[in-house]
Amino acid sequence: MKKTKHKADKIIIIGDGAVGSTFAYTLLRENVSASIGIIDLNQKKVAADVEDLNHTLPFTKCSGERVYIANYSDVRDADLVVITANAPQAKFGEDKDRLGLLQQNVRMMTSITTEIMANGFAGVILVVSNPVDALTQVVQRVSALPRRQVIGTGTLLDTARLHAVIADKLNVNSNDIKGFILGEHGNSGFINWSHLTIGSIPILTWLEKYTTYDCHHQFFETLEDYVRKIGVDIFADKGNTSYGIASCLVMITETILSENNRILPISAYLTGEYGVEDVYIGAPAILNRQGIDQIIEIDLTEAELAAYQQSAEVLKANIVELEE
Ligand code: LAC
Repeated sequence: MKKTKHKADKIIIIGDGAVGSTFAYTLLRENVSASIGIIDLNQKKVAADVEDLNHTLPFTKCSGERVYIANYSDVRDADLVVITANAPQAKFGEDKDRLGLLQQNVRMMTSITTEIMANGFAGVILVVSNPVDALTQVVQRVSALPRRQVIGTGTLLDTARLHAVIADKLNVNSNDIKGFILGEHGNSGFINWSHLTIGSIPILTWLEKYTTYDCHHQFFETLEDYVRKIGVDIFADKGNTSYGIASCLVMITETILSENNRILPISAYLTGEYGVEDVYIGAPAILNRQGIDQIIEIDLTEAELAAYQQSAEVLKANIVELEE
Protein backbone atom coordinates (compact mmCIF):
# COMPACT_ATOMS: atom_id res chain seq x y z
CA MET A 1 0.00 0.00 0.00
CA LYS A 2 1.50 3.38 -1.04
CA LYS A 3 2.33 5.42 2.06
CA THR A 4 1.17 9.05 1.82
CA LYS A 5 4.36 11.10 1.76
CA HIS A 6 4.14 14.06 4.10
CA LYS A 7 6.42 16.99 3.24
CA ALA A 8 9.29 16.61 5.71
CA ASP A 9 10.20 19.72 7.65
CA LYS A 10 12.93 21.57 5.81
CA ILE A 11 15.83 23.33 7.51
CA ILE A 12 18.47 25.33 5.68
CA ILE A 13 21.70 26.11 7.56
CA ILE A 14 23.72 29.04 6.25
CA GLY A 15 27.35 28.74 7.33
CA ASP A 16 29.16 25.40 7.63
CA GLY A 17 31.61 26.40 10.33
CA ALA A 18 31.90 24.85 13.80
CA VAL A 19 28.40 25.98 14.82
CA GLY A 20 26.63 25.07 11.58
CA SER A 21 28.20 21.61 11.24
CA THR A 22 27.74 20.77 14.95
CA PHE A 23 24.11 21.89 14.68
CA ALA A 24 23.55 19.61 11.65
CA TYR A 25 25.23 16.69 13.44
CA THR A 26 23.19 17.20 16.61
CA LEU A 27 19.91 17.41 14.65
CA LEU A 28 20.71 13.99 13.17
CA ARG A 29 21.76 12.44 16.49
CA GLU A 30 18.63 13.83 18.19
CA ASN A 31 16.54 12.35 15.37
CA VAL A 32 14.91 15.70 14.58
CA SER A 33 12.94 14.65 11.51
CA ALA A 34 13.74 17.26 8.90
CA SER A 35 15.73 17.51 5.71
CA ILE A 36 18.89 19.56 6.27
CA GLY A 37 20.43 21.67 3.52
CA ILE A 38 23.75 23.41 4.17
CA ILE A 39 24.92 26.52 2.32
CA ASP A 40 28.51 27.73 2.51
CA LEU A 41 30.87 29.65 0.22
CA ASN A 42 33.48 26.93 0.76
CA GLN A 43 31.98 24.30 -1.55
CA LYS A 44 34.76 21.76 -0.90
CA LYS A 45 34.22 21.93 2.87
CA VAL A 46 30.42 21.70 2.66
CA ALA A 47 30.59 18.75 0.22
CA ALA A 48 32.92 16.87 2.57
CA ASP A 49 30.83 17.71 5.63
CA VAL A 50 27.59 16.58 3.93
CA GLU A 51 29.23 13.27 2.96
CA ASP A 52 30.57 12.82 6.48
CA LEU A 53 27.24 13.74 8.12
CA ASN A 54 25.31 11.28 5.99
CA HIS A 55 27.59 8.52 7.31
CA THR A 56 25.95 8.98 10.73
CA LEU A 57 22.52 7.99 9.34
CA PRO A 58 22.92 4.24 10.04
CA PHE A 59 23.44 5.20 13.70
CA THR A 60 20.25 7.26 13.88
CA LYS A 61 16.55 6.50 13.49
CA CYS A 62 16.48 8.69 10.35
CA SER A 63 15.57 7.14 6.99
CA GLY A 64 16.89 8.16 3.57
CA GLU A 65 19.42 10.87 2.80
CA ARG A 66 18.85 13.76 5.14
CA VAL A 67 21.69 16.18 4.61
CA TYR A 68 22.55 17.82 1.27
CA ILE A 69 24.53 20.64 -0.27
CA ALA A 70 22.04 23.47 -0.65
CA ASN A 71 21.97 26.76 -2.53
CA TYR A 72 19.76 29.79 -2.00
CA SER A 73 17.05 28.48 -4.33
CA ASP A 74 16.44 25.75 -1.71
CA VAL A 75 15.07 28.26 0.81
CA ARG A 76 11.86 28.72 -1.20
CA ASP A 77 9.82 26.06 0.65
CA ALA A 78 12.01 25.82 3.76
CA ASP A 79 10.33 26.02 7.18
CA LEU A 80 13.39 27.38 8.96
CA VAL A 81 16.60 29.10 7.86
CA VAL A 82 19.36 29.23 10.48
CA ILE A 83 22.13 31.79 9.90
CA THR A 84 25.32 30.72 11.65
CA ALA A 85 27.80 32.55 9.39
CA ASN A 86 30.35 35.03 10.74
CA ALA A 87 32.56 37.23 8.58
CA PRO A 88 35.90 35.33 8.48
CA GLN A 89 37.88 38.28 9.74
CA ALA A 90 35.42 39.06 12.56
CA LYS A 91 37.43 39.19 15.77
CA PHE A 92 36.68 40.30 19.32
CA GLY A 93 38.37 43.54 20.38
CA GLU A 94 40.33 44.09 23.58
CA ASP A 95 37.04 44.81 25.39
CA LYS A 96 35.86 41.28 24.50
CA ASP A 97 32.44 42.76 23.69
CA ARG A 98 30.36 40.88 21.09
CA LEU A 99 28.91 44.23 19.98
CA GLY A 100 32.34 44.99 18.52
CA LEU A 101 31.57 42.36 15.86
CA LEU A 102 28.50 44.26 14.61
CA GLN A 103 30.18 46.48 12.00
CA GLN A 104 32.29 43.51 10.86
CA ASN A 105 29.27 41.25 10.32
CA VAL A 106 26.51 43.57 9.18
CA ARG A 107 27.44 43.68 5.48
CA MET A 108 27.65 39.89 5.28
CA MET A 109 24.31 39.48 7.10
CA THR A 110 22.67 42.01 4.79
CA SER A 111 23.81 40.15 1.69
CA ILE A 112 22.79 36.74 3.11
CA THR A 113 19.33 38.06 4.01
CA THR A 114 18.90 39.70 0.61
CA GLU A 115 19.72 36.36 -1.08
CA ILE A 116 17.25 34.52 1.19
CA MET A 117 14.41 36.89 0.38
CA ALA A 118 15.26 37.05 -3.35
CA ASN A 119 14.50 33.32 -3.43
CA GLY A 120 10.99 33.64 -2.04
CA PHE A 121 11.54 32.54 1.57
CA ALA A 122 8.47 32.92 3.81
CA GLY A 123 9.33 30.86 6.90
CA VAL A 124 11.20 31.59 10.15
CA ILE A 125 14.77 32.94 10.28
CA LEU A 126 16.83 31.99 13.34
CA VAL A 127 19.99 34.08 13.80
CA VAL A 128 23.06 32.82 15.70
CA SER A 129 25.76 35.16 14.39
CA ASN A 130 27.09 37.70 16.85
CA PRO A 131 26.18 40.15 18.18
CA VAL A 132 23.03 38.10 17.92
CA ASP A 133 20.43 40.59 19.20
CA ALA A 134 21.62 43.46 16.99
CA LEU A 135 22.15 41.23 13.92
CA THR A 136 18.66 39.74 14.37
CA GLN A 137 17.33 43.29 14.16
CA VAL A 138 19.37 43.88 10.98
CA VAL A 139 18.08 40.63 9.43
CA GLN A 140 14.48 41.52 10.23
CA ARG A 141 14.86 44.98 8.69
CA VAL A 142 16.51 43.71 5.51
CA SER A 143 14.07 40.79 5.14
CA ALA A 144 10.98 42.88 6.02
CA LEU A 145 9.49 39.62 7.33
CA PRO A 146 7.00 40.02 10.20
CA ARG A 147 9.04 40.56 13.38
CA ARG A 148 7.64 37.41 14.94
CA GLN A 149 9.21 35.36 12.12
CA VAL A 150 12.78 36.59 12.78
CA ILE A 151 14.37 35.51 16.06
CA GLY A 152 17.82 35.08 17.57
CA THR A 153 19.30 32.59 20.04
CA GLY A 154 19.13 35.31 22.71
CA THR A 155 20.21 34.38 26.25
CA LEU A 156 19.36 30.68 26.02
CA LEU A 157 23.07 29.78 25.98
CA ASP A 158 23.84 32.14 28.87
CA THR A 159 20.96 30.56 30.83
CA ALA A 160 22.28 27.05 30.09
CA ARG A 161 25.76 28.09 31.25
CA LEU A 162 24.30 29.54 34.47
CA HIS A 163 22.41 26.32 35.21
CA ALA A 164 25.52 24.23 34.47
CA VAL A 165 27.78 26.25 36.79
CA ILE A 166 25.20 26.34 39.63
CA ALA A 167 24.72 22.57 39.28
CA ASP A 168 28.48 22.10 39.52
CA LYS A 169 29.00 24.45 42.48
CA LEU A 170 25.99 23.25 44.51
CA ASN A 171 26.12 19.61 43.42
CA VAL A 172 22.54 19.59 42.14
CA ASN A 173 21.04 18.40 38.84
CA SER A 174 20.92 21.23 36.27
CA ASN A 175 17.45 20.03 35.23
CA ASP A 176 16.14 21.06 38.66
CA ILE A 177 17.31 24.64 38.17
CA LYS A 178 14.79 27.12 36.74
CA GLY A 179 15.27 30.77 35.92
CA PHE A 180 16.70 32.88 33.08
CA ILE A 181 19.44 35.24 32.14
CA LEU A 182 17.67 38.08 30.27
CA GLY A 183 18.65 41.05 28.11
CA GLU A 184 21.63 41.17 25.75
CA HIS A 185 23.53 38.01 24.87
CA GLY A 186 26.59 39.87 26.01
CA ASN A 187 28.05 42.13 28.64
CA SER A 188 24.80 43.87 29.66
CA GLY A 189 22.75 40.67 30.10
CA PHE A 190 21.68 39.97 33.73
CA ILE A 191 20.54 37.09 35.92
CA ASN A 192 16.88 37.13 37.01
CA TRP A 193 17.90 36.02 40.54
CA SER A 194 14.47 36.77 42.03
CA HIS A 195 12.96 33.85 40.10
CA LEU A 196 15.89 31.46 40.13
CA THR A 197 14.93 28.23 41.93
CA ILE A 198 16.50 24.86 42.67
CA GLY A 199 13.87 22.14 43.02
CA SER A 200 11.23 24.90 43.42
CA ILE A 201 13.23 26.43 46.30
CA PRO A 202 14.37 30.07 45.75
CA ILE A 203 18.16 30.04 45.38
CA LEU A 204 18.66 32.36 48.37
CA THR A 205 16.77 29.93 50.61
CA TRP A 206 18.74 27.04 49.13
CA LEU A 207 22.07 28.77 49.91
CA GLU A 208 20.98 29.44 53.50
CA LYS A 209 19.51 25.99 54.07
CA TYR A 210 21.84 23.66 52.23
CA THR A 211 25.22 25.35 51.81
CA THR A 212 27.93 26.99 53.86
CA TYR A 213 28.13 30.00 51.53
CA ASP A 214 27.90 32.92 53.91
CA CYS A 215 28.33 35.71 51.40
CA HIS A 216 25.48 35.24 48.91
CA HIS A 217 26.40 38.45 47.18
CA GLN A 218 29.87 37.10 46.46
CA PHE A 219 28.38 33.79 45.24
CA PHE A 220 26.09 35.65 42.83
CA GLU A 221 28.91 37.94 41.62
CA THR A 222 31.18 34.95 40.91
CA LEU A 223 28.49 33.28 38.81
CA GLU A 224 27.57 36.47 36.95
CA ASP A 225 31.25 37.03 36.13
CA TYR A 226 31.68 33.45 34.92
CA VAL A 227 28.66 33.49 32.62
CA ARG A 228 29.57 36.90 31.22
CA LYS A 229 33.13 35.91 30.30
CA ILE A 230 33.13 32.20 29.53
CA GLY A 231 31.89 32.44 25.93
CA VAL A 232 34.62 34.83 24.88
CA ASP A 233 37.24 32.88 26.86
CA ILE A 234 36.35 29.61 25.12
CA PHE A 235 36.36 31.43 21.78
CA ALA A 236 39.86 32.75 22.54
CA ASP A 237 41.16 29.28 23.46
CA LYS A 238 39.59 27.10 20.75
CA GLY A 239 38.72 29.63 18.03
CA ASN A 240 34.97 29.18 18.37
CA THR A 241 32.21 27.93 20.64
CA SER A 242 30.06 25.15 19.18
CA TYR A 243 28.56 22.43 21.41
CA GLY A 244 26.57 24.69 23.75
CA ILE A 245 25.23 26.99 21.05
CA ALA A 246 24.43 24.05 18.71
CA SER A 247 22.43 22.45 21.52
CA CYS A 248 20.52 25.73 21.90
CA LEU A 249 19.79 25.69 18.17
CA VAL A 250 18.40 22.14 18.34
CA MET A 251 16.17 23.05 21.32
CA ILE A 252 14.82 26.17 19.54
CA THR A 253 14.35 24.22 16.26
CA GLU A 254 12.47 21.38 17.98
CA THR A 255 10.33 23.90 19.88
CA ILE A 256 9.39 25.72 16.66
CA LEU A 257 8.72 22.61 14.54
CA SER A 258 6.91 20.56 17.19
CA GLU A 259 5.16 23.54 18.88
CA ASN A 260 5.92 21.98 22.28
CA ASN A 261 5.22 25.26 24.10
CA ARG A 262 8.65 25.44 25.79
CA ILE A 263 9.32 28.95 27.18
CA LEU A 264 12.79 29.93 25.94
CA PRO A 265 14.78 33.20 26.41
CA ILE A 266 15.37 34.07 22.73
CA SER A 267 16.11 37.34 20.92
CA ALA A 268 12.63 38.77 20.43
CA TYR A 269 11.43 42.19 19.22
CA LEU A 270 9.79 43.97 22.16
CA THR A 271 6.99 46.48 21.74
CA GLY A 272 6.61 47.68 25.33
CA GLU A 273 7.13 44.51 27.36
CA TYR A 274 9.38 45.22 30.40
CA GLY A 275 9.10 48.92 29.45
CA VAL A 276 11.26 48.15 26.40
CA GLU A 277 10.34 48.80 22.78
CA ASP A 278 11.78 48.78 19.27
CA VAL A 279 14.68 46.47 19.99
CA TYR A 280 15.54 42.77 19.75
CA ILE A 281 16.64 41.48 23.15
CA GLY A 282 16.66 38.22 25.15
CA ALA A 283 13.12 37.69 26.45
CA PRO A 284 11.13 34.59 27.54
CA ALA A 285 8.86 33.53 24.68
CA ILE A 286 6.63 30.71 23.52
CA LEU A 287 7.38 29.72 19.91
CA ASN A 288 5.39 28.00 17.17
CA ARG A 289 5.91 27.20 13.47
CA GLN A 290 5.39 30.87 12.58
CA GLY A 291 8.00 32.06 15.08
CA ILE A 292 7.05 33.92 18.25
CA ASP A 293 3.60 33.08 19.60
CA GLN A 294 3.80 35.02 22.87
CA ILE A 295 6.32 37.08 24.89
CA ILE A 296 6.16 36.14 28.58
CA GLU A 297 6.40 39.02 31.08
CA ILE A 298 7.97 38.00 34.40
CA ASP A 299 7.42 40.32 37.38
CA LEU A 300 10.99 41.54 37.80
CA THR A 301 12.29 43.41 40.83
CA GLU A 302 12.94 47.13 40.40
CA ALA A 303 16.68 46.49 40.09
CA GLU A 304 16.11 43.74 37.48
CA LEU A 305 13.76 45.96 35.46
CA ALA A 306 16.39 48.71 35.52
CA ALA A 307 19.04 46.21 34.34
CA TYR A 308 16.72 45.09 31.54
CA GLN A 309 16.09 48.62 30.35
CA GLN A 310 19.79 49.44 30.59
CA SER A 311 20.58 46.41 28.44
CA ALA A 312 17.99 47.55 25.90
CA GLU A 313 19.60 51.00 25.78
CA VAL A 314 23.01 49.44 25.10
CA LEU A 315 21.56 47.48 22.17
CA LYS A 316 19.57 50.45 20.81
CA ALA A 317 22.64 52.68 20.90
CA ASN A 318 24.46 50.18 18.67
CA ILE A 319 21.58 49.89 16.22
CA VAL A 320 21.32 53.70 15.95
CA GLU A 321 25.11 53.89 15.36
CA LEU A 322 24.67 51.36 12.57
CA GLU A 323 22.18 53.63 10.82
CA GLU A 324 24.45 56.68 10.93
C1 LAC B 1 28.97 32.19 22.85
C2 LAC B 1 28.68 32.75 21.50
C3 LAC B 1 27.63 31.94 20.78
O1 LAC B 1 28.66 32.87 23.86
O2 LAC B 1 28.29 34.15 21.60
O3 LAC B 1 29.42 31.03 22.90
